[in-house]
Amino acid sequence: EKSGYENYMLKEIHEQPKSLRDAIAGRLNELTGEVVMPELTLTKADIDDIKRIVIVACGTSYHAGLIGKYAIESMTDIPVSVEIGSEFRYSANRLGHETLVIALSQSGETADTIAAVKGSIKKGARVLAITNVVGSTVSREANYSIYMRCGPEIGVAATKTFTSQIVIMYMVALYLGTMKGMLGAEQNIRMVAELKALPNKVQRLLENERYIMGLASLFRNAGQFFFVGRNLNYPIALEGALKLKEISYIISEGYAAGELKHGPLALITTNIPVIAIATQCATYHKMVSNIKEIKARDASVIAIASESDGLIDQLVDFVVRIPDSNEYIAPILSTIVLQLFAYYIAVFRGCPVDKPRNLAKSVTVE
Ligand code: M6R
Repeated sequence: EKSGYENYMLKEIHEQPKSLRDAIAGRLNELTGEVVMPELTLTKADIDDIKRIVIVACGTSYHAGLIGKYAIESMTDIPVSVEIGSEFRYSANRLGHETLVIALSQSGETADTIAAVKGSIKKGARVLAITNVVGSTVSREANYSIYMRCGPEIGVAATKTFTSQIVIMYMVALYLGTMKGMLGAEQNIRMVAELKALPNKVQRLLENERYIMGLASLFRNAGQFFFVGRNLNYPIALEGALKLKEISYIISEGYAAGELKHGPLALITTNIPVIAIATQCATYHKMVSNIKEIKARDASVIAIASESDGLIDQLVDFVVRIPDSNEYIAPILSTIVLQLFAYYIAVFRGCPVDKPRNLAKSVTVE
């Protein structure tokens, strides 16, 4: 079943060109730039009624939710908040018919997310489920349901399902933005082309695996790690840190790079490894300033940067290059670098990557 791979996690990382291709298959029209999702039965009138969106999820799915917020707020005029399932279910949230709750869950069986969905329906909100398991509880309880089509994910660490969640969030954002008349056809067509080009870029990135493995070998004995990014790369920093702590048991922190000087910079000293996600986007130059602040404290910086970036080499110790792409697609490619990095560190440390201690694949108890 592992198709010749050492374990499920590595197999699932390598399945991403296919899982991403499946996530978009038949759902994007290249010529018109439109999203085709018959399962999303929200009419124009329904969408015009939506005054706010609340995304609810746990763990890695929560990080995909944070990306979803950036995308929906950029492509529509609907305000979005993102909440952790275990907090949302006990919060004094005021939900009603004008709220669309998006429940993101790979398994569709996470207890806190299920409770959030049930509570939201009771309060009159409409719920859109995005899960990977057909007929899962979250999908059954919701009003609308989109499936990720990733195939089973066995490794406890969420990998291929995270990247598909992001792509689906982008398609939902495009759909809502188009229905609200906020996106021009040209803009849609460009985004659709970027999404369609993604699977081949992932394939190309995976050919760089040995370099990432080499870096993991070099840093395998580090006691702690920092991951920093801005904008869409901030949730990716959180996700990189979660993946590393989950499977290698190394203490790792993810931060919005602009937040460093509000406290964590006190922890940055000589040789502390910092992974900086510095791909091309609106905040690239701000990120470069943050990297300079980090280097000034003599930390070791590994940057993830675009292939065409000619500046970054002079600033940092190591650079992992990803294929050039727009600001939405680059975070997906950076994620895969971080998945491989966490994977190899865990393997070098002799950790059981598919079944990390104390954790279960789906958290069906509170
Ligand atoms: O099945 P779900 O997406 O609802 O699971 C949520 C989290 O339990 C899950 O993403 C967890 O954080 C992963 N093990 C992280 O790799």
